Amino acid sequence: MSDYSYQDCLEASYRVNWRIEEVLGPRKFDPAKRWMPSALSAAPAIGCLSEAEKIKLSHVEMGAYAHLFGYVEEFIAPLITGRAKAHGEGEAFEALANFVGEEVKHMHLFRRLRRRVDGQLGFSLKLLDGEQEVTRYVLAKNPGAVLLLTACIEWFTQLHYLTAIREDSGLDVLTKNVFRAHWLEESQHAKMDHLETLRAFSAMEAPERDRAVGDLIELVAAVDGLLQKQSAYDVENLSAYLGRLFSRAEAEEIYREELKVKRWTFIASGVSHPNFVALFTQVTTPPQRERVQLALAS
Ligand SMILES: [Fe+2]
Ligand SMILES: [Fe+2]
Repeated sequence: MSDYSYQDCLEASYRVNWRIEEVLGPRKFDPAKRWMPSALSAAPAIGCLSEAEKIKLSHVEMGAYAHLFGYVEEFIAPLITGRAKAHGEGEAFEALANFVGEEVKHMHLFRRLRRRVDGQLGFSLKLLDGEQEVTRYVLAKNPGAVLLLTACIEWFTQLHYLTAIREDSGLDVLTKNVFRAHWLEESQHAKMDHLETLRAFSAMEAPERDRAVGDLIELVAAVDGLLQKQSAYDVENLSAYLGRLFSRAEAEEIYREELKVKRWTFIASGVSHPNFVALFTQVTTPPQRERVQLALAS
């Protein structure tokens, strides 16, 4: 059982709804400030960059962060469209259809934010491509697994804003505006993911639940592969931005710390979120949870 309801989510969504223009407007990032919060940036852990270079690393990281959010929302929108259609009509259909509309708006918000980063940096950042291929790969997996991955993402979105972005006094104001707005709407998404995940698992027999857990492990491994690729791009992007070549040791250090913080940001902060843990515990058995823990550890 859950305290969440589709009707409450829809009403809350109408109360907080915003337009892209209100959030972005003509505002620019302040080049003298950090664009990524310290808690989600590799900068504090890197020894080979000066303080000024660390600020620039946070600019490159913001481009990747905004891109990765837009990237995952490419599969969340069609996933939730399918869930809405399955309800047919009524409160759940209306709340989920509205969820899809918000997610499409977020995709546009993040595309525009990425363009703003590129515009201010003066060149196009190297970012992951193949969104459509990844969307097809993800949506071919067991729906329970895809919903769990989605719930994980939407819960870590909450955590990032509340614990890393909101209280960071040295952070750029545009970053704060954008991720505050995103958090406001994502709060309802996370609750609806929870409801939909419970619904999907309640319709499954034991062998299918086991397949869902296997698929979730594959999805998390695929996310990790994407993070490795983007971390390598971040090193190239920073080198281009600073206009200097890194030594092998410097490049390795930046890559290692970048991957570490991206793994925390896009995987660990979600799977350890108490609300995700509660959901995951509800739909899995102790041996299944052990399987996932072993996979995460490796
Ligand atoms: Fe979103
Ligand atoms: Fe969302």
